[in-house]
Amino acid sequence: MSKERTISGFSKMRKRDKIKWIARNFFSDPDHVMNELISYWHGDEKQQKILDGFSENTISNFPMPYGVAPNFLIDGETYVVPMVIEESSVVAAASAAAKFWMTRGGFVTKILDTQKVGQVHFKWEGNPSKLKGIFPEIKALLIEESKDLTINMENRGGGILDIELLDFTSEEEGLFQIRAYFETCDSMGANFVNSCLERFGATLRNYVIASDKLEEAEKDILIVMSILSNYTPDCIVRAEVKCKVEELGTFAGGMDALTFAHKFVTAVKIAHIDPYRATTHNKGIYNGVDAVALATGNDFRAIESCGHTYASRDGRYRSLSFAEIKNDVFRFWIDLPLAIGTVGGLTSLHPIAKRSLELLGDPDAKTLMSIIASTGLAQNFAALRSLVTTGIQKGHMKMHLQNILNQMKASDSESRAAQKYFNDHVVSFAGVREFLESQRKK
Ligand code: MEV
Repeated sequence: MSKERTISGFSKMRKRDKIKWIARNFFSDPDHVMNELISYWHGDEKQQKILDGFSENTISNFPMPYGVAPNFLIDGETYVVPMVIEESSVVAAASAAAKFWMTRGGFVTKILDTQKVGQVHFKWEGNPSKLKGIFPEIKALLIEESKDLTINMENRGGGILDIELLDFTSEEEGLFQIRAYFETCDSMGANFVNSCLERFGATLRNYVIASDKLEEAEKDILIVMSILSNYTPDCIVRAEVKCKVEELGTFAGGMDALTFAHKFVTAVKIAHIDPYRATTHNKGIYNGVDAVALATGNDFRAIESCGHTYASRDGRYRSLSFAEIKNDVFRFWIDLPLAIGTVGGLTSLHPIAKRSLELLGDPDAKTLMSIIASTGLAQNFAALRSLVTTGIQKGHMKMHLQNILNQMKASDSESRAAQKYFNDHVVSFAGVREFLESQRKK
């Protein structure tokens, strides 16, 4: 049977027909593939419709583990933190770090600011100082003409905070930007911000065309685009842990607290000096951040892209976390930009995201910022603790053992025997294969 690789009208096809076409044309065992994809459909048709509504051309659901990390003491409250992540060790590491800090005062957080940002990029060929001169009038009009969009947000305590005009004409002829700052309360606010920006674009255009303050030659304006910026350097939460160095206790291999603290602080310094290390260091932070963002229905791509820009804000990519020993106190903290929401978007539509928020006590956006930043910091602490003591592989491979066993189709009894054997043997792919072969020969 010849295989078709392209198709028109795919989006209009029924879901079963989509799967059939995919299975027939891209797989050698179409019936099996079809059944497998269908087996991941939600048993409840209504729920499946909700899931399908999040995206397009859906043919099935992609399962990811939904785990929880208990014993997080954050600002005096105890949380069980929901995490969606496919990597082994991450949830275990977060849980272990949470438990470690629970008896040492827990995580303490502070919201430094919650501003969201949006931009209208436009081209206008007139004199920049003239535009700057009339901008206060334009600004008042932008606010006035978007009242119908902002009124609800204002009633909730948010709205437009400020609007400014930026001149980019030295980099590109005629290029300007309206940069606007918003408070979006408990919502991430993307739709609100984008609607306001598109309205600003229309208002600006109409103003320029009709203004009696501008000459005919100055009435030509091109609105290039209007969109929020995912870079929110003023939507920041600080999370920190601290204790007396001696209270850190002793570590694997009998490492004493002071040696540990010094190695740890040096490890963080390295991530401030070297972008290669900083990238891996921050990746570890986002293991925690993304997992909670996903579990609560937040946009982890927006969160990450913002964090990486923030990590480069002085021109070099650096660690998002900091550590110090001062007056015998070990202190470890993170400043994390986090534009998230607990209302609107997926947070209230996704059935499990809703449960995650319920599990966290239905937090407002600021509290969720604190929880997410603490989880990122916990993750970073756990990774560095392993790296400066035993190395990462020992714990990681132990957690990964079941994945290797599954891949090698080990039976339950073989798995049990392997778990016992590898308690005091180094886990490796070859080692597990060898172990299973020896078991199977018996
Ligand atoms: C692995 O997913 C994350 C780590 O590499 C982070 C780090 O090295 O700090 C362990």
